[in-house]
Amino acid sequence: MYVCNCNGIRERQVRAAIDAGACKPADVFRAHQCKAQCARCVCEMRQMIDENQQSLRYAAE
Ligand code: FES
Repeated sequence: MYVCNCNGIRERQVRAAIDAGACKPADVFRAHQCKAQCARCVCEMRQMIDENQQSLRYAAE
């Protein structure tokens, strides 16, 4: 499933960028050598980043 239709970035590619250290949507775009265009995907990327950080926090407790 595509998260970013403008740049053709799939959900698994966003997760890979997050696993590699992306902590904001701009990092995800940078990891795929592209930039935000319409920015409609930014909220979903932020949500995925937040969920990942929350699960890391729970895992650390
Ligand atoms: S959907 Fe990602 S920039 Fe447009």
